[in-house]
Amino acid sequence: MGSVSGPEFSGILMPAEDVGAAKIGITKQFLQEAWVYHERYSATPYFRWLIEQATKGRLAREPSIVLDIGSGSGNSVLPLLDLFPKARVVATDLSENLLAILRDHLGADSEKRSRVSLVCLDATSADYVEGAVDLVVGAAVLHHLLDPAECVRRACHALSPNGTAIFFEPFEAGNAILRLAYERILARNADGSIVPLSGAATHTLRALIQDYVVRAGSDKSAPIFRDLDDKWLFTHAFFKGVIAPLGGYDLEIEPINLSDDCFTRQTLTNLRLSLGLSEEAVMRALPEWAWNILRETDAAISDELKKDLPIEARITISRTA
Ligand SMILES: C[S@@+](CC[C@H](N)C(=O)[O-])C[C@H]1O[C@@H](n2cnc3c(N)ncnc32)[C@H](O)[C@@H]1O
Repeated sequence: MGSVSGPEFSGILMPAEDVGAAKIGITKQFLQEAWVYHERYSATPYFRWLIEQATKGRLAREPSIVLDIGSGSGNSVLPLLDLFPKARVVATDLSENLLAILRDHLGADSEKRSRVSLVCLDATSADYVEGAVDLVVGAAVLHHLLDPAECVRRACHALSPNGTAIFFEPFEAGNAILRLAYERILARNADGSIVPLSGAATHTLRALIQDYVVRAGSDKSAPIFRDLDDKWLFTHAFFKGVIAPLGGYDLEIEPINLSDDCFTRQTLTNLRLSLGLSEEAVMRALPEWAWNILRETDAAISDELKKDLPIEARITISRTA
């Protein structure tokens, strides 16, 4: 194992063969602008809740080695260290810049720092030791990869017998419903007889629709995907197609953040993040008639069907043998 060169990256390991290699499929958002990303998307309590739900009473044994894939600045690594106080956590990411933020954050806590290895690697070519890891966690990482299937296969290879891999990812089904609702809002806005959307809201809804269109489907061969961070919206069929041929693994996919108003709530989150608004201000980002369209969308889909149409889902892969 080599290490990332430069004093600012001290303590960050890197497979010797990757030293100096070009980073494909990742942009400055995660590299040179890592601090901006970290400050905007830091949400450790939320990821702690997700990981606790996913693991409590569900693991075959207390993990001694945890592999965290696409760790970023630590949203999932920090809760893993708390939830599994005897475990060693291998935090990996293609961005040494984000790993350096995580390293500095851990710096003051020597107990936790001593249980973490920081490794800069590409999750689609990582050469993990077979059967070495009891728990794999990938929080919002697969949809950024050019070849997420390869990442999942490698993670499965790393799992010990009865080990578990957990990923949290966006799904096409629920986002397709959001896309249709946003298209309905924009069409209604265009008829001109109502309180109009603001320019910023119109722009954001158009951008979200465009994003859903680009990320739908599984053909990512177009050059644009090399310069786009958000590449995928997943389907159940995608994960079945990866796991079934491996043999010896069980697959479970469950929606997260399910509620009777999940499409309205997701829109609040989308607008808050896109427009940089506070929780209080975001309700004013759309006129009442537009919120009503979202409420109608939520009301039109039963709680049962919502389970089949996740906006985001937890993917659990268990090694059975
Ligand atoms: C949305 S962030 C998630 C980070 C962290 N898990 C969290 O929840 O905050 C996606 C992460 O995937 C990393 N990433 C992108 N492409 C990668 C690759 N090929 N191999 C490993 N990590 C990658 C990015 O650098 C980024 O840190």
